[in-house]
Amino acid sequence: MLTVHILAKPGIMSLVSTALVGDSEISLELRTNNLREILGFQYRDVRDLLIVDDAILSEAPGLVQSVADLPCRKLLIGSLSDMEAARRALTLQSTAIVEADRVNDDLVAVVKALLDPPVTREPWVAAIYSAKGGVGKSTLALNLAWALAMYSEFNVALIDCDPLGDIGAMIQERPGATLSDLVRGLGAGMDDDRALQSLYRVQALGLTIIPAEPNAQRALELRSADLERVLALVRQTHGYVVLDLPIGLTDLNLTALDHATDIIVMAAPERVTLGTVRRSLDILHRFYSGKIAVLLNRADSDTGLTDGDIEQALAHPVQYVLPSGGSSPVRASNTGRPLVLFDPKNPLAKSIIAMAQEIAGQREGVRRRPRRWLIR
Ligand SMILES: Nc1ncnc2c1ncn2[C@@H]1O[C@H](COP(=O)(O)OP(=O)(O)O)[C@@H](O)[C@H]1O
Ligand SMILES: [Mg+2]
Repeated sequence: MLTVHILAKPGIMSLVSTALVGDSEISLELRTNNLREILGFQYRDVRDLLIVDDAILSEAPGLVQSVADLPCRKLLIGSLSDMEAARRALTLQSTAIVEADRVNDDLVAVVKALLDPPVTREPWVAAIYSAKGGVGKSTLALNLAWALAMYSEFNVALIDCDPLGDIGAMIQERPGATLSDLVRGLGAGMDDDRALQSLYRVQALGLTIIPAEPNAQRALELRSADLERVLALVRQTHGYVVLDLPIGLTDLNLTALDHATDIIVMAAPERVTLGTVRRSLDILHRFYSGKIAVLLNRADSDTGLTDGDIEQALAHPVQYVLPSGGSSPVRASNTGRPLVLFDPKNPLAKSIIAMAQEIAGQREGVRRRPRRWLIR
């Protein structure tokens, strides 16, 4: 069931209402042409949809950001050829633009696509792991989750399991429960729906991000059972779960690796790192041999090591290689945006996008264009 609110002038209001009324999966709630009323309304669920008539926004440019900040999803009715309207749609993070004269034909399909897709099969749960820090785990975790969300039909969740984790800092800091908040809430009896609603979501992408608790002391209190509870929750509504793990084979990491369907072990072309990763792979293969893939990051860097040297030092075959992204990954992180959004033409971004396409393609069938128009 999707709760829909409408802010529109009378003409668009009746078009939109007529298109949606009577649909068993859609419940129409607030309907008004008064922008202030929309801004003052208490939205109960971040998954609610607010359909906005662009004609009203264009008369109140100073309030577009306030509408964007409302805790619900937005969909703009406006003209695709109007640059100003497109800009307002971007500010709103509108999930789509529907032309006024296409409301009859297109609106229901666009709105129905927003109903949370059921997870029809076992989610893909990827643990991004390395025995070494600084090899690019968080960079891959964030960008892979983001790219999967762009190309997949399903919701994607990214969980920062590193007590010193930096996923929160790598995107603009936003409100939303941390992993520790979530564990506390669930422990205090919060029901699953409320818990899911407390999480930060990139609405236009269907991407949920659960950052680490900024207080490292509290973050360290996380137990294996807590992570299991969170994974069980997230798996209900997400087709892909990406876990950014800290280094070391701690209890928490082993729990994450137990529950992962795929373990991506990251290495970099440096002899010391390769040696450490090799020793960790020897152990991991004893327990998880069927689900490990080795990924070599910055594979094209000029390190003086040949492919043969690398293979010999790792003693395990490499499944994925990622190139160096130059200074762009750092610049992306400094602006608080994932690389795939900040610089999608960057070689590293392109490779991670290709990786996401391959993974989503294998599970859902081939799809070449991003599902979400916003992320171009
Ligand atoms: N392929 C790459 N090309 C360029 N810079 C990279 C690449 N992968 C990672 N980085 C940079 O290396 C640093 C460490 O990466 P990070 O993802 O934080 O590693 P980890 O999570 O393993 O500690 C970051 O500054 C990141 O931007
Ligand atoms: Mg990290």
